[in-house]
Amino acid sequence: MNNFEKHRPIYHFSSKKGWINDPNGLIYHGGYFHLFYQHYPEGVVHGPMHWGHARSKQLIDWEELPIALYPDEKGTIFSGCIVYDQENTSGLGKETAPLVAVFTQNQEKNGLTRQYQSLAYSTDGGMTFEKYAGNPVLDLGLSDFRDPKVFWYPEKKRWIMLAAVLDSIFIFSSKNLREWKKESIYYTGDLEKNEIWECPDLCLFKTREGIQKWVLIVSQNTLDYKKTGVRYFVGKFDGKKFYEENSEEVLWLDFGRDNYAAATFAGIEGRIVQVGWMNCWAYAQKLPEQGFRGSMTIPRELYLLQTPMGLRLGQMPVEEVKEYLNVYRLSEGTLEMDILLGAFLIDIHNGKGKICLSNKKERFMIDIDFDKQYIVVDRSKCGENLGKEFTETKNRNFHISRQRQILLIIDTTSVEIFTAGGEVAGSFQYFSKYPFQTIKVQGGTL
Ligand code: FRU
Repeated sequence: MNNFEKHRPIYHFSSKKGWINDPNGLIYHGGYFHLFYQHYPEGVVHGPMHWGHARSKQLIDWEELPIALYPDEKGTIFSGCIVYDQENTSGLGKETAPLVAVFTQNQEKNGLTRQYQSLAYSTDGGMTFEKYAGNPVLDLGLSDFRDPKVFWYPEKKRWIMLAAVLDSIFIFSSKNLREWKKESIYYTGDLEKNEIWECPDLCLFKTREGIQKWVLIVSQNTLDYKKTGVRYFVGKFDGKKFYEENSEEVLWLDFGRDNYAAATFAGIEGRIVQVGWMNCWAYAQKLPEQGFRGSMTIPRELYLLQTPMGLRLGQMPVEEVKEYLNVYRLSEGTLEMDILLGAFLIDIHNGKGKICLSNKKERFMIDIDFDKQYIVVDRSKCGENLGKEFTETKNRNFHISRQRQILLIIDTTSVEIFTAGGEVAGSFQYFSKYPFQTIKVQGGTL
């Protein structure tokens, strides 16, 4: 094994060098899935941000391409999205319909921060981008105003933009991507001072039973790491305003610590595919590094499921990933490998199980009880001590489980856990000194 890059994931995107955070500008276009991302190529901490770029035909074998967007005098390049402006509503396309990137520029001057939204366009399928000369296109004079997510709303023939302003999501509309009108603000009022939302997303889902709902997804960033993660609201959207319809309960997309700033792809028909930054701000800048730091989650398909508690999001690795990886089937027993890697589908026959990934010295443990509907993850014995945010056990109650199975995606520095009906997902990094070689499954009580 190449010790120099012993923390380099194989099935997950990581950049060749430097720091990465949020996935940006996810779009399927011209036969490729494009993944742009927050990137600081010159260092392994958050620095002056660029947009890095990678693409894949199967959502797994990522090819890193030249940097797409560099900082300029208007600021560094924060998170955002890309749309395909098929009708050339923006007029930026000339002969070819353009891809238009909508992103935040972050400007720090004399100790003051300003954030506003800018555009860049590509007429060569996303390989190169030109910044729009009229940037910024949306400036409210604010210091926290970021992460635009734009989509076409056919009923009103308008582009819709969501952007995060502290603990609120502002919604705007536009006919041409250049001039924006404020439509509404979504706000729950349940955040404390200094707790904020970032990276909003809004998607239309349909359950198997045919119920259609809009789901607003936000990344919640708080000093209390227990309240940090990706949160969602199920409701209605009328082209101007989002109305939440569900519960008193706070709904989390992922019970693990390592899924943040998750975003969905534009340009995919018939399914909703999401990728998250597989990390957590509480310790992201302390992770062991080898000239690169950070990775993305495996791409997942999201579903809206009807449960006894109401409508909930479920998720599974996309089919492409399951086809690409060898899926090992296991029930009770032990499997030894040189390096534990791949997809493991585990039957938990009697409803209770303990799963342990280990080498001679370190271990990662999962306990699950399908009757009590409870799952616990302990990664405190996985080498690096990255603080309590990293080592504390994490648990989660879940409401339904159609199959008594667990699917694990294991890759060098991470385990992604799914109940095999996709109702619950948890993403966890680990940094063991030596690769895990054994997976042991035991039936038993918690
Ligand atoms: C989320 C975030 C975004 C911002 C970006 C900066 O992780 O803080 O709100 O645009 O990272 O890199």
